[in-house]
Amino acid sequence: MESLNDTYTLSNGVEIPVLGYGTWQVTDPNEVVEGIIAAVKAGYRHIDTAQMYGNEEYVGKGIKECGVPREELFVTSKLNNKNHGYDKARKTVQESLDRLDLDYLDLFLIHWPVVKGNGGDWKQDNIDTWRALEELYDEGKLKAIGISNFAVPHLNNIVENCRIMPMVNQIRLHPGVTQEDTVALSHKHNMVVEAWSPLSPMENMEENTKVQAMCAEHGKSIAQVLLRWSLQHGFVTLTKSVHEKRIIENADIFDFELSIGDMDYLDSIKFDDLSKPDDFEDR
Ligand SMILES: NC(=O)c1ccc[n+]([C@@H]2O[C@H](COP(=O)([O-])OP(=O)(O)OC[C@H]3O[C@@H](n4cnc5c(N)ncnc54)[C@H](OP(=O)(O)O)[C@@H]3O)[C@@H](O)[C@H]2O)c1
Repeated sequence: MESLNDTYTLSNGVEIPVLGYGTWQVTDPNEVVEGIIAAVKAGYRHIDTAQMYGNEEYVGKGIKECGVPREELFVTSKLNNKNHGYDKARKTVQESLDRLDLDYLDLFLIHWPVVKGNGGDWKQDNIDTWRALEELYDEGKLKAIGISNFAVPHLNNIVENCRIMPMVNQIRLHPGVTQEDTVALSHKHNMVVEAWSPLSPMENMEENTKVQAMCAEHGKSIAQVLLRWSLQHGFVTLTKSVHEKRIIENADIFDFELSIGDMDYLDSIKFDDLSKPDDFEDR
């Protein structure tokens, strides 16, 4: 991995850039548009949004105004939880395309699985939603399809019942949240794993002398070390900032390498407040 333009090849041959610009919690229209313009200027070619973020319209505007042809960008969106089910999924993917003012998405994900204990048939619900994405993929509106936050039971259910295997699983990953079983199962089925919220442990690491030593050795910030950890695990890494300086800093991670010892240490870190968040518990 040598540059921001490096890609992985998904199981269907589509190229996905290894670093993506995230847009979660950015709802101010100007911040969304300016963030995308700054990210593209810094070299990012991969943008991640979601129906749930409420910013697809502004993401679309950023794409139009960023100065790079749409075809050179990799754009992802995700299905809101309230839009599960075959009919709603089909209808609301088109609504996403309309809001973004795009003819196709490079990747579309089921944002969260329906989980056990929701009162319905969670397995069938997820299969029905997936079938809608398979059809939209066949029709060319979605160049690749995948899942997000699918832990082992949800993943197995899709794998056993799908016609088209998901190409991506996007999950929370950073030191302290390593989800080895989900990563291994995703890889076993040829999915590229994407990492969200890679910078979550930043504050918890500020006083850590081993991490400070890593930063000093490489002349990098904690954010850059965390993003590098993610890349060296082979994850497509998504990161977000609304500040141009940080957008540039977060992309400046291709000129150093963490040692095996550094990686092992970061893999082993546990945080009392971060290592067992509710949102990825095996449901
Ligand atoms: N599939 C899912 O369920 C899911 C869930 C969460 C996120 N995601 C996706 O993954 C993307 C990345 O996750 P995330 O938004 O949590 O991003 P992140 O990159 O892990 O963290 C972003 C936070 O760190 C700050 N920050 C960014 N760069 C920094 C730097 N160099 N130094 C200090 N602070 C810095 C940002 O603040 P400023 O903006 O103020 O700089 C922001 O508060 C999301 O934007 C979204 O697209 C997906």
